[in-house]
Amino acid sequence: MADVRYPRLASFKTADALRRHLRQSGIALELDDALPAAERLALAQPIDVGPVRVGNRFCILPMEGWDGTSGGAPSELTRRRWRHFGISGAKLIWGGEAVAVRQDGRANPNQLLLTRDTQGEIAALRDVLVAAHRGRFGSNADGDLFIGLQLTHSGRFARPHATDRPEPLAAYAHPWLDRRFPGGLQMVPDEDLDRLVDQFVEAARLAWDAGFAFVDVKACHGYLGHELLSARDREGRYGGSLENRTRFLRSIVAGIRDASPRLAIGVRLSVFDTVPFRKNARGVGEGEAPASSYRWAFGLFDSDKGSMDEALADARQVLGILERLGVRWICVTAGSPYYNPHVQRPALFPPVDGYLPPEDPLAGVARQIDATARLKAACPSLVFVGSGYSYLQEWLPHVAERNVREGLTDFVGLGRMVLAYPDLPADVLSGVPLKRKAICRTFSDCTTGPRLGLVSGCYPLDPFYEAHPDGARLRACKAT
Ligand SMILES: Cc1cc2nc3c(=O)[nH]c(=O)nc-3n(C[C@H](O)[C@H](O)[C@H](O)COP(=O)(O)O)c2cc1C
Repeated sequence: MADVRYPRLASFKTADALRRHLRQSGIALELDDALPAAERLALAQPIDVGPVRVGNRFCILPMEGWDGTSGGAPSELTRRRWRHFGISGAKLIWGGEAVAVRQDGRANPNQLLLTRDTQGEIAALRDVLVAAHRGRFGSNADGDLFIGLQLTHSGRFARPHATDRPEPLAAYAHPWLDRRFPGGLQMVPDEDLDRLVDQFVEAARLAWDAGFAFVDVKACHGYLGHELLSARDREGRYGGSLENRTRFLRSIVAGIRDASPRLAIGVRLSVFDTVPFRKNARGVGEGEAPASSYRWAFGLFDSDKGSMDEALADARQVLGILERLGVRWICVTAGSPYYNPHVQRPALFPPVDGYLPPEDPLAGVARQIDATARLKAACPSLVFVGSGYSYLQEWLPHVAERNVREGLTDFVGLGRMVLAYPDLPADVLSGVPLKRKAICRTFSDCTTGPRLGLVSGCYPLDPFYEAHPDGARLRACKAT
């Protein structure tokens, strides 16, 4: 059980009480006292981006479920999750979940894999989402629903054949992270990256033919597209200078533009990072490497210096490049669930391979909001989705509404919250009070499950997963 040193969000009965706590803790996070009538919500306003209209400002973030078939097709569990995305009320579906573009890039043996063989079933997955959306909101409700597919290669964190067998394909030798792979790592050669560019472009074409309106070229969370951005020590055409480090991303974007000109392109980017964290003797997370001499991050945030502006210098450059290539859609995230989960998905209770929070999780929420706001100000014509809001719990709508109204972000992305409470956006948008029993309390079982080789889902709050055989397995593992 976590060392609950930080007050639970449910204990703040008023916005002022939460504000007092934030002030005392030195956390810069603002929120509205109350929400206006549903029709006046900033969150309810549509946005027009070129020819695309998206009906409101809620976005479902990508979340894989470790529940596809061994061949990479969706299962009934996958369809259930996408059905929930459809009834959520959110009008932007950022990728659904990470889908590998080839077998050795799967993060787990049950990750979806987009090939000619699975294309039909992945197209049908999208249809399930659209049908659920129409079923709940009306037969024409999908006119302003914008659905993309997230394309990935898991690189260093690939486990394509067995959950307990890493098969890392790394961008460069990393003096700290390599220690976590006692079985060794393979470095991905330039020629293979050239091939992989073509495979991303081909997967994007399959996604377009399957009916997706955009693809996300994933560049976050320590996976290959993200790791290459910090490949300063790599020799050859994909390492060293910024031009080389962005070659992979640039080539994929340019290739997709050529091959599928009507397909929109998004990039989910870890816009800042930290040194890797590990558990200390008290079980609390601590930085494993000194930040002062750490040169393996894309956008190092040094919590001692606290300079977000400096940390975002790398991201500003990459966003400038993407903007020049015609990319408009950016989903902001940070760090990696593998080596700094408190940065990426702030939680009170750690996953099985994590650590007790080294800071009030609200500080992690505020940091992602701050980073998004700074990048929106620097690149106003890009469309931004912010992440990391689930920890806000009952206060999520109050922070989300303010952030959209004040232009700190264009969309508010929801991850863990929709696993627990799929139709929270619909409730907020129709002025219905939140169902408190459905609110995600960040128990991290959605991450612990997969770390133990089980399917992902909300075990504590979704009765379906509580009753699922993996629910019993999870409880048994946690009890030992
Ligand atoms: C179970 C689980 C699976 C996830 N899978 C993905 C994924 O496939 N692709 C991705 O970009 N992010 C993934 N994420 C990260 C989320 O999209 C999101 O950034 C993170 O949970 C923080 O947002 P939240 O506070 O709303 O949960 C996953 C998160 C969870 C909890």
